[in-house]
Amino acid sequence: MNQQPHIPPAPLAVRMTASGVTKRFDGRAAIEDVSFSVDAGEFVAVLGPSGAGKTTLFRCLTGLLAPDAGAVRIGGVDIAAVKGRARRRVAVVFQQFNLVSRLTALDNVLAGRLGHVPAWRGLLRRFSRADRLLALECLDRVGLLDKALQRADTLSGGQQQRCAIARALAQRPDLIVADEPVASLDPAASAGVLELLRGIARSEGVGIVCSLHQVPYARAYADRIVGLSHGRLVTDVPAARFDEAAFAALYGAEAGAGKF
Ligand SMILES: Nc1ncnc2c1ncn2[C@@H]1O[C@H](COP(=O)(O)OP(=O)(O)O)[C@@H](O)[C@H]1O
Ligand SMILES: [Mg+2]
Repeated sequence: MNQQPHIPPAPLAVRMTASGVTKRFDGRAAIEDVSFSVDAGEFVAVLGPSGAGKTTLFRCLTGLLAPDAGAVRIGGVDIAAVKGRARRRVAVVFQQFNLVSRLTALDNVLAGRLGHVPAWRGLLRRFSRADRLLALECLDRVGLLDKALQRADTLSGGQQQRCAIARALAQRPDLIVADEPVASLDPAASAGVLELLRGIARSEGVGIVCSLHQVPYARAYADRIVGLSHGRLVTDVPAARFDEAAFAALYGAEAGAGKF
């Protein structure tokens, strides 16, 4: 493809700032006073036991949930005040991929453009030539150009997640929020997906926030590790400085050295 549209990095150096974010359910805080930021090109892993508040935090980052206190800024703009298309500056990747199984990989990626076309066009799935080229470019970026016309449900798990990442890229996001993106994948596919996400941060300048269950993945792929425990941010260090003491502080000393 010689005429491929370029995916330019967004201009701001700080992709996301969360300051004092608190969210309560029935009076009980699921996350409390969480502050951290993500720079352009940075891959930040979020670690923490089940129930620590990772998904709640991510839903606040994407604007799906409004915090009870604090704010999330994407490229300097409060996400809670942003409506419609501008929300597309944050793209989400899920554990279960969330593709439309009977659509092709290409149509799934084009769905990432829906926020960018007039609704009638989205409904008729009549995308412009530029949108189609962008979608193909995104599939190419994740190594799936040859699968463009294959139904999503005939792709392997790793391929489905890479297709979901292509869909996220088609939004031209400032930030990609990935909630346990490799929890349903085998080790080889997991490594492929994490390497891809890290490469996207590096080369496209997108900020990436990614929750992970396995600490070794975070240490191998992330630039920084943020730790959540009982809804509070207890760790924010460069990945190389996440040591056994940091592990114990997050999961408890008895959690087992084998997981480190
Ligand atoms: N919609 C909700 N209503 C009530 N409680 C919730 C809701 N969503 C999450 N919680 C609670 O918030 C806490 C954090 O959950 P969650 O963000 O899913 O954690 P994690 O993703 O780290 O496992 C848990 O105690 C959970 O039960
Ligand atoms: Mg979760």
